[in-house]
Amino acid sequence: MGIFSTSLVLLAVAALSAADGDDEFANYTITDRKFPDGFTFGVATAAYQIEGAWNIDGKGEQVWDTFIHERPERVDDLSTGDVASDSYHRYEDDVRCMKEVGVDYYRFSIAWSRIIPDGSGDKVSNEGIEYYTKLFKELKANGIKTMVTLYHWDLPTALEKQGGWLNPKIVEWFQQYALTCYTLFGEYVDVWVTINEPKQICHTGYGNGAYAPGVVSPGVGEYMCARHVLLAHAGAWRMFDEQFRPRLGSRNTIVIDSDWYEPATESEADRRAAEDKLQFVHGMYAHPVFKGDWPQVMTDNVATFSRLQGFKGSRLPAFTRQEVDFVRGTYDFLALNHYTTYMVSAIEGQEYPTEVSWDTDSGVNSYQKDTWQTAAIGWFKIVPWGFGKILRWLKATYGDIEIVITENGVSDRTGTLRDQHRIDYFKAYMSHMLDAMYDGGVNVTAYTAWSIIDNFEWTQGFNAKLGMYYVNMSDPLRPRIAKDSSKYFSSIISTRCLLDSCQ
Ligand SMILES: *[C@@H]1O[C@H](CO)[C@@H](O)[C@H](O)[C@H]1NC(C)=O
Ligand SMILES: *[C@@H]1O[C@H](CO)[C@@H](O)[C@H](O)[C@H]1NC(C)=O
Ligand SMILES: *[C@@H]1O[C@H](CO)[C@@H](O)[C@H](O)[C@H]1NC(C)=O
Repeated sequence: MGIFSTSLVLLAVAALSAADGDDEFANYTITDRKFPDGFTFGVATAAYQIEGAWNIDGKGEQVWDTFIHERPERVDDLSTGDVASDSYHRYEDDVRCMKEVGVDYYRFSIAWSRIIPDGSGDKVSNEGIEYYTKLFKELKANGIKTMVTLYHWDLPTALEKQGGWLNPKIVEWFQQYALTCYTLFGEYVDVWVTINEPKQICHTGYGNGAYAPGVVSPGVGEYMCARHVLLAHAGAWRMFDEQFRPRLGSRNTIVIDSDWYEPATESEADRRAAEDKLQFVHGMYAHPVFKGDWPQVMTDNVATFSRLQGFKGSRLPAFTRQEVDFVRGTYDFLALNHYTTYMVSAIEGQEYPTEVSWDTDSGVNSYQKDTWQTAAIGWFKIVPWGFGKILRWLKATYGDIEIVITENGVSDRTGTLRDQHRIDYFKAYMSHMLDAMYDGGVNVTAYTAWSIIDNFEWTQGFNAKLGMYYVNMSDPLRPRIAKDSSKYFSSIISTRCLLDSCQ
């Protein structure tokens, strides 16, 4: 670098930074392409965010009940999921909303502690089983197919007291729970999801501790968690594959969430930094399942940094050869949750990070632009072109496999029924998705919007509402009231197109 003058370096950076997505899509117009035949649309929820009835009918306590009751200040508006949208009592209203929109399928999760209150052992709750059976029957009566998540972050507290996702026994506990659900509900389920968003479970649950169970173990616990999540998923998938698929004919996979990471400039260093970040975020969970073992950059970085930081061995627990084979191939399709985008730049001249964490192990800087539009949740910037880019990256990285979007959507704070920004979000994100399908040959077969009704948004509580139906959380009857976006989503499903002009 010594031979360049400062001004020359600045000029070079300016020239290099001219090619990011903001410029590339500056004059983007929404596509009038149609969704292909067979493409299906659904909506998603998760048990703790909608059900309420946290201690009713024999349900056991789970980590989010415990976390929020013990640390109410962790939730922005001090609300809880104790009642939430009260779907435990009002599931028929939810199904009516879905029928009104005309969705093909409903993605929801089963609360582990509603089925097995202590998480493991012989005690099963008949009331819990009855609740889900009634929901399945209501969906069936309305011609709505089902995508069912076994685990959407609500670990029974009895298991967390034994170490939760840090205890290797969780692989057995999860398999027992999965077996119970496959046996009880197999006939009603079209698609199973073992585990939703391992990143949030491990890095917010056992890394920085922002989410339940609130364990703070950056760079160590979060990796143990990741290893066990992957083994638990693989065990549950293989059990399904061998014992249930032949009879039921349904499908099963893991849901991995990922933002898009865009290189800050076209420099080789920034391109590599963005790829490394994608491997740390998406590859960490997808590489073991789709290709086998941790991504190489994780193995390398964590081993090197651990040594330089003074650890005896790598903080990243290795898979044995048998475990690599056990986890590899445990999917029926690739399921993606996607919301936003970050820019990534290389960190120059860093030998190793002194702060120990999964985040610093990636060895790069990431940030969002101030110029990007913000949704109600602070980190949540609206960057539609990032969706098209991650879809193309998935195809380039994992091959030409079927992709299902299992979550995508945007928040509002006001509870407005005139949610034009959500219509704009769906329109722009799905437009980039259609372009990736038509121009990039990416095989997306279904799109799931988050969410059908307003619900309890974890530590944002009721400040961030993501529903197509407004739910007044102060009204004991929790009426569901259509927002404009529900009508727009409905029109996409019936016309198979994003624009009025192509309908
Ligand atoms: C976008 O449109 C403006 C105005 O027509 C034009 O000046 C600009 O070059 C266009 N940008 C790109 C990247 O095509
Ligand atoms: C997409 O994947 C599905 C499921 O594997 C397959 O049936 C279909 O032919 C694929 N479509 C394209 C265009 O490759
Ligand atoms: C929500 O419900 C409460 C209690 O019934 C009521 O006082 C309030 O006006 C409602 N808010 C809206 C926006 O409907």
